[in-house]
Amino acid sequence: MSLFVLSLLMLSSFSVMPFTHADSGMIGVNYGRIANNLPAPEKVVELLKSQGINRVKLYDTDSSVLTALANSGIKVVVSLPNENLSAAAADQSYTDAWVQDNVKKYTPSTDIEAIAVGNEVFVDPRNTTAYLVPAMKNVQSSLAKFSLDGAIKISSPLALSALANSYPPSAGSFKPDLIEPVIKPMLDFLRKTSSHLMVNAYPFFAYAANADKISLEYALFKENAGNVDSGNGLKYENLLDAQIDAVFAAMSAVGFNDVKVVVTETGWPSAGDENEIGAGSANAAAYNGGLVKRVLTGNGTPLKPEEPLNVYLFALFNENQKTGPTSERNYGLFYPNENKVCDVPFSAKSAPVNDSKEKVPVKSPSHVGQTWCVANGKTSKEKLQEGLDYACGEGGADCRPIQKGATCYDPESLEAHASYAFNSYYQKNARGVGTCDFGGAAYVVSQPPKYGKCEFPTGH
Ligand SMILES: *[C@@H]1O[C@H](CO)[C@@H](O)[C@H](O)[C@H]1NC(C)=O
Ligand SMILES: *[C@@H]1O[C@H](CO)[C@@H](O)[C@H](O)[C@H]1NC(C)=O
Ligand SMILES: *[C@@H]1O[C@H](CO)[C@@H](O)[C@H](O)[C@H]1NC(C)=O
Repeated sequence: MSLFVLSLLMLSSFSVMPFTHADSGMIGVNYGRIANNLPAPEKVVELLKSQGINRVKLYDTDSSVLTALANSGIKVVVSLPNENLSAAAADQSYTDAWVQDNVKKYTPSTDIEAIAVGNEVFVDPRNTTAYLVPAMKNVQSSLAKFSLDGAIKISSPLALSALANSYPPSAGSFKPDLIEPVIKPMLDFLRKTSSHLMVNAYPFFAYAANADKISLEYALFKENAGNVDSGNGLKYENLLDAQIDAVFAAMSAVGFNDVKVVVTETGWPSAGDENEIGAGSANAAAYNGGLVKRVLTGNGTPLKPEEPLNVYLFALFNENQKTGPTSERNYGLFYPNENKVCDVPFSAKSAPVNDSKEKVPVKSPSHVGQTWCVANGKTSKEKLQEGLDYACGEGGADCRPIQKGATCYDPESLEAHASYAFNSYYQKNARGVGTCDFGGAAYVVSQPPKYGKCEFPTGH
């Protein structure tokens, strides 16, 4: 028996996209796969869901991974590898075929929200810089051909080495030889397509190279005196904010004050060689935990306080086949056996960081460590209805707020109502393992769900 008669007209996806608009910052994770010992993609998707991680970035368009991510409720950034940039720049029939085989084929069941065209192209030893913007434009035209240009944004992750200067942040500037050939045309493209500049930012590198000058607490989001920017008097409490503002200042300096930034990689290695100062598991835990906390408080950087910081952690797993220094193989949040390398609290299920010196800021409403349960809008109506009936019936969820006339009746959609009921059940059951499943119709999120004016309780 159906407890509620629902209009299905408003079935829609609810989460805010980092590429369009956000109320508070978002956490995603890079799913790198340069390893021979990682779990199967299906298991990885389960792991992401169990951690409340609902955004993932890939370095390619691997078919098994994109298939496993179908109908998972996880939003995906895919990549066109550097090695394919010259072909993509040369010929739109190439990008047509690439988009068809690597993107179109998986949508909409796999929720691809952006394409990273190349990665850290300016430091690619293949010298592919000249191909970048033409390749981005061709991919964009191909997306338009398949009517995917509205749903999918294009960008390209820059390494911070694209900056000639980053200190103080207000003096941030791009390397002069990149500005005319590639920076300006790329920013112009991002502006015209309402996309964001992707930036890979590693306070670890800056710290390791300048450990005598930079305080470790400042790099690790711990309590510290902060640094005042001598150019504009703004105070920085952590190095990542300073790095991002150096990028904003560099964009401003070339006339692009309005393009937004998404941090496509950041992380801290849990192990390193002897000369890699600062690498280690306690620091990795402090960095990643501090970062998650900082992002979810929802504030922007000192230069752009209104623009929440959206970041993708690097990386999901330790990758044993990466070359280079020891740190390269030790950025993972998880070991390949899915045990945590360090305890980063994405959600209530993870133990809190046991550091009595660490203080959670009281003033901003932090949702750190909280999780909610929501309906997967892509599961069948039948499954959602079944879950809703169970939650509100036998399950004992508090479903009064979604009755006609009550506060959460609007929006009147099955997904919104099911989400409310699923979350109530999940919270009542102390967010226990398996209490946010409903036959696969639900998943855990680490940011407060938004359906109209309805507020979803947490705790119980
Ligand atoms: C991308 O480049 C690699 C290396 O040249 C090649 O093996 C692969 O087939 C290319 N992929 C596509 C889709 O063209
Ligand atoms: C990279 O290509 C540019 C032209 O596209 C050329 O001027 C430059 O010398 C090349 N650099 C290397 C290291 O090959
Ligand atoms: C947490 O820290 C407190 C105080 O430092 C200590 O007494 C306690 O044993 C720690 N708990 C765990 C689980 O490490």
